[in-house]
Amino acid sequence: MKIKTIKEIKDLKGKKVLLRVDFNVPMQNGEIQDDTRITQSLETIKYLKTQGAALIIMSHMGRPKGKIVEELRLTKAAKHLSKLLNTPVKKTENVLDDKVKEEAKKLKNGEILMLENTRFRPEEKDCDPAFTKELASLGDIFVNDAFSAAHRKHATTVGLADHLPTYAGFLMQREIEALSPIIEEEPIRPLTLIFGGAKIDTKIEVIKSFIDKADYFLIGGALANTFLVAAGFNVGKSLYEKDKVEIAREIMLECEKNRERFIIPHDVVVADEISETAETAHLPIEDVMDNMKILDIGKWTAEKFNNIIEKSGTVIWNGPLGLYEHKPFQNGTKLVASSLARHNCTSIIGGGDTADALKRVNVPAGGFTHISTGGGACLEFLSGKKLPGIEILKN
Ligand code: 3PG
Repeated sequence: MKIKTIKEIKDLKGKKVLLRVDFNVPMQNGEIQDDTRITQSLETIKYLKTQGAALIIMSHMGRPKGKIVEELRLTKAAKHLSKLLNTPVKKTENVLDDKVKEEAKKLKNGEILMLENTRFRPEEKDCDPAFTKELASLGDIFVNDAFSAAHRKHATTVGLADHLPTYAGFLMQREIEALSPIIEEEPIRPLTLIFGGAKIDTKIEVIKSFIDKADYFLIGGALANTFLVAAGFNVGKSLYEKDKVEIAREIMLECEKNRERFIIPHDVVVADEISETAETAHLPIEDVMDNMKILDIGKWTAEKFNNIIEKSGTVIWNGPLGLYEHKPFQNGTKLVASSLARHNCTSIIGGGDTADALKRVNVPAGGFTHISTGGGACLEFLSGKKLPGIEILKN
């Protein structure tokens, strides 16, 4: 796939670059838990800066639905970036207003201004033309380095390309180069997909698109609860998505031709509270009671997953298999990650949370072929979909 990259920009000196990054990093109690998405953007930021450009950095954080949500401000991300670069990074109070325009105007070569969470404005998600045009007036060039948001058609991931010369940053380029062989060539089989985490909406669609392509589906995390309900099990007080149960049932029926293809947990770790000291129990799925919460896959399920991993030629994994932020629910993710890291196959890990989970369970990144900064974006890319944030970068 041929895309235009920042190396092709002739003269950056004195130019104002609107740089879209994805600093939607995992946060807990107001602290950044994993800064991979920030560190992975540094190469682009440093390059633009040393070439003499002034940078206006844009990112979203979470899903504030077009309103200001205090906990989703980018203050911590801006401070962290400043620390990593050892240079001041000024953050605006709002996404776009007269003050922001003034601040952007005053920026000198090599200086960095970060806009507040772009999703505080409803126009971002609507890719609103008037908002996009106003935003574009802040700069001369648009650089998209937010691979992990490339599946979203928003003002700052796509719209700006209507107004400004547009290029990919190095992170975007690296991701496309690492993931393209999986879709451009026939993957080494069996092809196994591991899905976990909580964001079910994008994953259901991706699972559907992989039904004819993948050999095995291994399902864990909160995602598994919806499939367990669809299969007729009681999940007690666990998180699941009622409106997706029917579609989950259809997917399982579709895979039914070969029952061993689609594996949902048959044993689980439950607790009635979520904490570091929670008392847990390990149960067969049939024994889950109304007052319990499923918070991890059980060790027999992990073993079954590992048997499949050991015979796989390609494994794509997106989403932790349990509530990994808390120690009592990390074991499933740890067992499966260690097995995958040991096994000699093509292994693609996707999603900020998955990368964070691997760090927390001490499984080194070196054991995998590629760790993508993208979650949904990585999956959609691998399923062969055209991502709007990448389409704008094509020659
Ligand atoms: C992600 O974390 O996958 C990206 O930042 C995109 O976030 P979104 O799913 O809220 O659009």
